[in-house]
Amino acid sequence: MEKCHCAQVRFETIVQRAVSEGKDYREVVRSCGAADTCTACKDYLVAYCEERLNLAATR
Ligand code: FES
Repeated sequence: MEKCHCAQVRFETIVQRAVSEGKDYREVVRSCGAADTCTACKDYLVAYCEERLNLAATR
């Protein structure tokens, strides 16, 4: 799974917004309404964002 299908938001978009706006990704998730309808994407979303943001921090 690469996006929240309910909110039509790609996980990559959330990561990019978190980095560019200097926000916690969870704040971005809340503001775009992802993982808040059927919640099927939630575990994938969290794993994706944490992995990508950890990688981004070590670059
Ligand atoms: S797929 Fe993300 S809340 Fe349904």
